[in-house]
Amino acid sequence: MSADGVTESEGPVPEMSDHAADCAARLRAADEVLLASHIDADGLTSAAVAASALERAEIPFETVFSKQLDEAEIARIAAADYDTVLFTDFGSGQLDLISEHETAGEFTPVVADHHQPADADTEFHLNPLRFGINGASELSGAGASYVLARALESEPGANRDLAALAVVGAVGDMQNSQGGLHGANAGIVADGVAAGVLEEATDLAIYGRQTRPLPKFLEYASDVRIPGISNNQNGAIDFLSDLDLELKADGEWRRWVDLSMAERKTVVSALMRRAIASGVPAKRIDELVGTTYSLLDEEEGTELRDVSEFSTLLNATARYERADVGLAVCLGDRGEALERARKLLRNHRRNLSEGLQWVKNEGVTVEEHVQWFDAGTRIRETIVGIVAGMAVGAAGIRGDVPILAFAEKSTEEVKVSARGTHALVRNGLDLSAVMREASRAVGGGGGGHDVAAGATIPAGTREAFLREADRIVGEQLG
Ligand code: C5P
Ligand code: C5P
Ligand code: C5P
Ligand code: ZN
Repeated sequence: MSADGVTESEGPVPEMSDHAADCAARLRAADEVLLASHIDADGLTSAAVAASALERAEIPFETVFSKQLDEAEIARIAAADYDTVLFTDFGSGQLDLISEHETAGEFTPVVADHHQPADADTEFHLNPLRFGINGASELSGAGASYVLARALESEPGANRDLAALAVVGAVGDMQNSQGGLHGANAGIVADGVAAGVLEEATDLAIYGRQTRPLPKFLEYASDVRIPGISNNQNGAIDFLSDLDLELKADGEWRRWVDLSMAERKTVVSALMRRAIASGVPAKRIDELVGTTYSLLDEEEGTELRDVSEFSTLLNATARYERADVGLAVCLGDRGEALERARKLLRNHRRNLSEGLQWVKNEGVTVEEHVQWFDAGTRIRETIVGIVAGMAVGAAGIRGDVPILAFAEKSTEEVKVSARGTHALVRNGLDLSAVMREASRAVGGGGGGHDVAAGATIPAGTREAFLREADRIVGEQLG
């Protein structure tokens, strides 16, 4: 009970509330906090949630972003000389390195993360995995950050609006499934809905509902392939033209958001009929419709309104060394930063589509237990994982074998990204362990989640790394 008799809220994730309160108390006691976060959609939203909460709690702080928290990066953070460092969306996997600096009295770490922890712990460590919650599917870095933000709020519910960003982070980390966000994430969704910033709906589960012109929207739908429409511009236009539907307004293609509910129903039914007629399995047809999330304070028809498009916009900034732009957008800049982000987004989309095309043309090499490709300098190392994820199950690439993707990081280092499927994880696949162990065996380092992980290895060790990774995956699935 607080002084005025109001019962303390349990918070969005009751299991983590007590520990979140301890972490919040430590932050309030700090002179100045260095907030350090990861450079992807989840990392940016984690930072934005934490930054907003620190700001509102009047705790002075600075923000830095990092591609990867290795020894050199942690040393740089320590040298910045803050008494307290708040790590969001990374830190758990590097607790062994971080705790050395803590022991040396350089700073007190507070970690809000969801990655597999290293073999070390620290006092202020807010990670769902420590509370029996799955960090790959039930709570993201932004979610952990949000739990902390709720513990930092001055009045019950004052930070609930930040649930919108936490949901963008979860979706950016691919935690959304057909039935929507679940587990601890569901508590955050409920907060966002209650705060009036978030809407949960059942809708066509195709990327680009807010911004893509209708024909492109259907043509590019890659999750459920419909013969004659997917990857077929004329096919998509012909399909739409056969429907009783106004396709253009003021000479411009309409978008999914521009359609009325009745019009959307018309399209969905026709898509289903076409899919059935083309022999698409019923299970895949079901996947056409799913749970979607919209941010109600954002303008309709913009990338920011749809959570999934928002997360791509953020990746388009952070993965190109412009995390500052993405953070500004998250913090509400709808002028210069948003304009800059949109330019970066056009570039990101072109890179994703060229990257995917390159992989499809070159094909992959299938080993005993994994398949792989080496993009060299053809695909930027910061997005090779996204391309690998989009490639699994695409034309000519198997959907039932984990994929490893290599890209050149520098003349000395190679980046590896690994992606699996939930079915493989159910059978024992843990790519986080594969990346960690196989990279260590060749003098590198890595980690991540069971279903998606990454590593950095020394140049020239690809073959040895592959042999190790193939063997470990074989053991896990055997
Ligand atoms: O740093 P980290 O957690 O943020 O990165 C998560 C990455 O893993 C995202 O880029 C996402 O694309 C990928 N991922 C995935 N499938 C999942 C979960 C995550 O491809 N089921
Ligand atoms: O970039 P991000 O990791 O947020 O992309 C998430 C998913 O959105 C991709 O795996 C892909 O399926 C889809 N996407 C797309 N077209 C784009 C960008 C993303 O279909 N231009
Ligand atoms: O970079 P990519 O999207 O492939 O990263 C997938 C996951 O692997 C992320 O969660 C990331 O934090 C993790 N990772 C890691 N160590 C690396 C590279 C990636 O833990 N060296
Ligand atoms: Zn994350």
